[in-house]
Amino acid sequence: MTDITAAMGGTFRIGGEIEINRLGFGANRIAGHGVWGKPTDHAEAIRSLKRLPELGVNFIDTADCYGPNVSEQLIRETLHPYCSTVVATKGGLVRPGPDQWEPNGRPEYLIAQAKGSQKRLGVNQIALWQLHRIDSKVPQDEQFEAVKSLLDEGVIRCAGLSEVTIEQVKAAQKFFKVATVQNRYNLADRSGEDVLNFCAAHDIGFIPWLPLADGRLIRPGGLLEKVAKRHQATTGQIALAWLLQRSPIMLPIPGTSKVAHLEENVAAASIRLAEDEFELLQAA
Ligand SMILES: NC(=O)c1ccc[n+]([C@@H]2O[C@H](COP(=O)([O-])OP(=O)(O)OC[C@H]3O[C@@H](n4cnc5c(N)ncnc54)[C@H](OP(=O)(O)O)[C@@H]3O)[C@@H](O)[C@H]2O)c1
Repeated sequence: MTDITAAMGGTFRIGGEIEINRLGFGANRIAGHGVWGKPTDHAEAIRSLKRLPELGVNFIDTADCYGPNVSEQLIRETLHPYCSTVVATKGGLVRPGPDQWEPNGRPEYLIAQAKGSQKRLGVNQIALWQLHRIDSKVPQDEQFEAVKSLLDEGVIRCAGLSEVTIEQVKAAQKFFKVATVQNRYNLADRSGEDVLNFCAAHDIGFIPWLPLADGRLIRPGGLLEKVAKRHQATTGQIALAWLLQRSPIMLPIPGTSKVAHLEENVAAASIRLAEDEFELLQAA
C-alpha cells in the first residue's frame, strides 16, 4: 500500500461533467516497440495497468491505433468494468507499420473506428473520444460532422481534438462542444502556449502529449536537476509538477510500461514548486 495518490495533483471536470484526477496515464507505451504489436513485457504492462487505480490514476489516454488495438485490448482485459476510471481514446490515424502514422479523416472511417473502440473497450459509451488528427485530404467540416454524429448517437459522451490550432478549435466548436485538446507540450517545447491559453479561457481540458519530452526531461543536469535536488525528487517529477502547476486545465498523461516509473511519475502529484522555482522553470 502507498499513500501517494494522483488525487494530490487536483481534479478537472471533462466537458464540465466527468471528474478525473488531473495526473493521468498515457497508454501508448504498453504496446510493442514503435507502438506496434504486443508489448515486449506483457506481464509488466499488465502490472502497470493494475497499479493505476491503486495509485488513484483514473484518467487513461489510449487510441485505436496503439498496437493497433493492442492498448485498448490490454486496458479492457485488465481494468474492465473500470469503476471510476475514465478511458479516453482516439481515432483518425492509420498504421502502415511501426512508428508510422497516417491520417484518415473520412467520416465513415472515423465513425467505424469509434464504434470499434466502443466494442474493444467494452463500454456502452466512450467517455471521451478524440479526433487524433484533422486529415488535410478531407474537408474538415465533414470530419467535425462525423464527431457530432457520434455524440448525437450516444457512441461518445464528450469529444476532443488533437494537434490543432486555435482556428481549428473554433471551427470545430461550430459543430460540437470541444471538451479537450491534446497537443504536444512540455517544459522543453512550449510552442503550443497560445492554444493552452485559449483552452484555459474556455475551460477546455488541455492534455499535453510527450509531457516528459519522450524521456529527455528525465536526464539529469541543468536547472531541472537543481530544483529536483531541493525536493529530493527526480527531474521527471519536477517536469510533471511544473505542468500541473502551469494551469488547472492541464491533464498530463506520462507514458510508461513499467510499474516503478509509473509510481515515480504519480508521486509528482504531491510536489508543490515554490513560486520562484516555478518562475525559474517557466523562464528557462
Ligand atoms: N495525440 C498525439 O498525437 C499523441 C502522440 C504521442 C503520444 N500521445 C499520448 O501521450 C502519452 C505520453 O506521451 P509519450 O508516452 O509518447 O511520451 P512521454 O510521456 O513524454 O515519455 C515517455 C518515455 O519516457 C519514459 N519514462 C516515463 N516515465 C519514466 C520514468 N519515471 N523514468 C524513466 N523513464 C520514464 C518511457 O519509458 P518506459 O516505458 O521505459 O518508462 C518512455 O520512453 C502517450 O502515452 C499517448 O497516450 C499522444
